Amino acid sequence: MSSDNTPMVKITIKRGDSFQSKYQTYEIPLQEKMSIFNALEYINSYLDPSLAFYTSCKIGKCLGCTVEVNGKRRLACTTIVEGDMTLEPDSRFPVVRDLMVDMSDQESS
Ligand code: FES
Repeated sequence: MSSDNTPMVKITIKRGDSFQSKYQTYEIPLQEKMSIFNALEYINSYLDPSLAFYTSCKIGKCLGCTVEVNGKRRLACTTIVEGDMTLEPDSRFPVVRDLMVDMSDQESS
């Protein structure tokens, strides 16, 4: 809980590229029906503008925002944050930076 009783959630993100990476944890206020994309936007806006992630349609159509959530592939724009989680880039593709991957080689799927 924060000082104003807002529940907090820890988002741990694998940062870096295909050659070197580290995990970084951010603590953010948990809002009702907050998607992973919303959480990433919060981190990017208020805590760490260097965080890289992909977004486009935001309605679950383009599949570009796919990340691995606690080891399972999910869409960041449609998956709701319900508690602490670890986010990693989609392991099917080379990492460009942080959660952004190079999907140009679609044969990898
Ligand atoms: S941004 Fe297009 S599916 Fe998530």
